[in-house]
Amino acid sequence: MQELFTQTFKSLGYDIEAKIVKSNQEADFQCDDCFKLAKVYHKSPLDIANEVVNKLKEVKDFDNYFKEVNVSAPGFINIIVSDKYICDNLNNLMTKEIFGSTKENHTIVVDYGGPNVAKPLHVGHLRPAIIGQAIYNILKYKGNKVIGDVHLGDIGTQMGQVIYGLLQDFPNTKPADIKITLDYLNDTYPKISALCKENEEVKNKCLEITKELQEGNKDYQILWQKICAISVQDIKRIYDYLDVHFDYWYGESDAHKQFKEMLAFMEKQHVIKIDDGAKIIDVKEKDDKIEMPPCLIQKSDGAYLYATSDLGTIWQRVKEFNPDEILYVVDGRQNMHFQQVFRAAKKSHIFEGVLQHHGNGTVNGPDNKPFKTRAGGTLKLEDLLKNVKEEFINLREENKRMDDEDIDKIVGAIIKFADLQNNLERNYIFDIKKFSEVNGKTGPYILYTYLRINKIISPNIKKLSSQIYSQTDRALRLKLLEVSEVLDLASKERRPHYIAEYLYELSVVANNFYQNNKVLGLTGVKQDDFNTILNFNNNIIKALLGLLGISIPKAM
Ligand code: ARG
Repeated sequence: MQELFTQTFKSLGYDIEAKIVKSNQEADFQCDDCFKLAKVYHKSPLDIANEVVNKLKEVKDFDNYFKEVNVSAPGFINIIVSDKYICDNLNNLMTKEIFGSTKENHTIVVDYGGPNVAKPLHVGHLRPAIIGQAIYNILKYKGNKVIGDVHLGDIGTQMGQVIYGLLQDFPNTKPADIKITLDYLNDTYPKISALCKENEEVKNKCLEITKELQEGNKDYQILWQKICAISVQDIKRIYDYLDVHFDYWYGESDAHKQFKEMLAFMEKQHVIKIDDGAKIIDVKEKDDKIEMPPCLIQKSDGAYLYATSDLGTIWQRVKEFNPDEILYVVDGRQNMHFQQVFRAAKKSHIFEGVLQHHGNGTVNGPDNKPFKTRAGGTLKLEDLLKNVKEEFINLREENKRMDDEDIDKIVGAIIKFADLQNNLERNYIFDIKKFSEVNGKTGPYILYTYLRINKIISPNIKKLSSQIYSQTDRALRLKLLEVSEVLDLASKERRPHYIAEYLYELSVVANNFYQNNKVLGLTGVKQDDFNTILNFNNNIIKALLGLLGISIPKAM
């Protein structure tokens, strides 16, 4: 249709790629291009619109496309498409391998998750994991080669703190013989971390251990490996529960191995400056609206920084994956860090591709501030998940009798849909009650829609006839046709919320269809048509839920 409009414009001497958009008037679609053309060709938009519609009506297969095309002042073109057009397009879409209209073929690294070893995951780790995994799934679905890397924070000061704790608790045991448990870790890190805040001497000792560890102290490395093994196992357990999986479990320590080579390369580019004994890269640009501090590469005492780790990681990714793009799903409050790192990477020519930070917003408590426990501490992610599960089970008597695997799937749907329906940089208030409702813009509503339809369909899919049987039938079919555009947009902008929003809209029209049409006890073509439409509806829901990382329970 877009093409037909473009051709018609061109045949009248108007040079424009037509844009057909969804209409919120009486029509299905509309074209607003006449306003743009009016400025260029110094005519009234209304005259151009009439000219175009008259020309369109001369097209041989006009009736195949349209039920009606008319003009409304001051120059809109309103389009009501024919039933045949809708059915033909649906038949075509149903044979497609993927629902998006275009395939992509880029190599993209997605850096998401970003947990820190030796500390339990907390609420702040929820969004980077869920959004990152959804973006990963979407880009892969579109045909890209996608590489997911968790980027563990495995060599920061928390490591020095835990090792300090171990040296205190096991002063006479050889590092190789010290046994570390998860409980021990969970106690020790907060204990020593608190101690560092009051005791300068301990703090300095911990920093010293961290530095020696980074420089390769053998004893510390033995302990470090043990700590990593136990902590990472626990981190994996929780990501598994959320169905979040990574291709690579590289950490900052892997980046450290790249520093020598990378720094030598950077020196050759003459981008590194010495400032008060520290190595920095100046990343100011002349159009900057805010102050851009230099990117700190190495402190005067020789210690490397967070930015150095990210640059070393880019260096490694270029060597190993040669990506077109590296995308970071990390808390939006780290934006300045990433701007500095990206500029330093460009300036030193370690990577010429696209670097993008998708800074996520926070999960907030009822006070609209980042979520805390009642006592004011950070809430462990595991506790949040447990709370949601408990709330869901207590919501209705029937829920208590549900299959545990199904409950976990619903818990996943509640959390993920709540999260992904928000544009990723927005903060949102975590309201378990609201998110668990079966009515409203929630995960359970989408699941319920799917399961209800699933009960009455048979897998016997036929080619659709050209007939549409009611307004609600028509509305559902038009909505189904939107799927390609939605997928293209979500993938192009790397924003899963478009898919969540569409899933909700689709569920609303699907429920309307179900309520307003007799779908059971039919025979003949009508039965086949309805069965096929509902099958297609559920195929789309299932595929899109899958992209959002949401699994469907057997029943609810
Ligand atoms: N571990 C970091 C933190 O807790 C997040 C890592 C994000 N990813 C990155 N490439 N910097 O703040």
